Amino acid sequence: MVRNFSAASRARVTAVADLDDARLARIQSMYPAIQTCKDGIDIINNPAIDAVVLATPINTHFALAKSALLAGKHVMVEKPLATSRNEVLELIEIAEKMNKVIMVDHTFLYTGAVNKIKDLVSSGELGDLQYFDSTRINLGLFNPNWSVIWDLAVHDLSIFDYISNGKKPIAVSATGISHTKMPIEDIAYITLFFNDSTIAHITSSWISPVKIRKTLIGGTKKMAIYDDVEPTEKVKVYDSGFSVESPEEVHKWLIDYRFGDIHIPKLAQTEALLGVANDFVGAILDGTKPKSDFNSGLNVVTILEAAQKSINNKGALQNLE
Ligand SMILES: NC(=O)c1ccc[n+]([C@@H]2O[C@H](COP(=O)([O-])OP(=O)(O)OC[C@H]3O[C@@H](n4cnc5c(N)ncnc54)[C@H](O)[C@@H]3O)[C@@H](O)[C@H]2O)c1
Repeated sequence: MVRNFSAASRARVTAVADLDDARLARIQSMYPAIQTCKDGIDIINNPAIDAVVLATPINTHFALAKSALLAGKHVMVEKPLATSRNEVLELIEIAEKMNKVIMVDHTFLYTGAVNKIKDLVSSGELGDLQYFDSTRINLGLFNPNWSVIWDLAVHDLSIFDYISNGKKPIAVSATGISHTKMPIEDIAYITLFFNDSTIAHITSSWISPVKIRKTLIGGTKKMAIYDDVEPTEKVKVYDSGFSVESPEEVHKWLIDYRFGDIHIPKLAQTEALLGVANDFVGAILDGTKPKSDFNSGLNVVTILEAAQKSINNKGALQNLE
């Protein structure tokens, strides 16, 4: 974050806070011109500072963001924006009253791959969305303060929200389990239901022996695979599909499968975090709407909160309408 905001041409990083002495010392040695202090509240209360970026633990986001907005600062918060829908709504209300920007860092919205998929969906090339099936698993890093969905599924939910242009699920069901003494799930499965035949499923895990970052996006015309572990060919578009002729009798179904060409689109090479930094600066200086704006933050936290309730109730469906 410090590196990317230092590279953003219209911003100047003047101060960094971290309660951790070792981290603070590292920042001091890398950026000797930047002031450092321990507690973020000193930055929030510094009248010479216009904007703050919060990259602190999730359970601190709401209180720090609220203090910063009330102190007249524009605020960007690391994902997720807060820990509940009500917290996010309160932050939005304060930001509007104070006429300040509040946005969240949903980093993947600033990658070439995710923007290509958004183009494929919005141009109609994939057809109507049928499914979004995402797996984000690896070994570690456990965090004692939040479960795996607040760490990993937040990425998939923000990607879905972005590529589908804010398509809202009507209900969510999720299951997950903890394999430690900590009451936080280290593996979880979220399913989203919509008022049409779209379905979204997200697998999140900190206990997988391998790292997988793979999303399948199926449309009525084409299907795409987004594999973020691939160094360059992250997106592949399959001209594949199926059609079913409505049968007069159930046992006479005529299903036609199509296996066509595979296309590997060229992706824009962007540094995602620099994109986030420039988007925040643009929102402050030019009044532009960030890609990862508070609505994106609200949509993601709304689903995470409902998914956590569903997990706590062994998968019970939570309505979102
Ligand atoms: N966008 C991404 O890809 C991405 C990746 C990793 C983490 N994150 C997010 O970044 C945030 C932090 O995660 P992390 O894994 O770096 O956590 P972490 O616990 O490793 O680091 C948090 C830091 O915040 C500091 N801190 C806490 N309260 C503070 C305060 N009041 N003043 C000053 N410093 C304070 C701590 O000392 C610590 O160094 C989380 O919201 C997480 O979801 C985002």
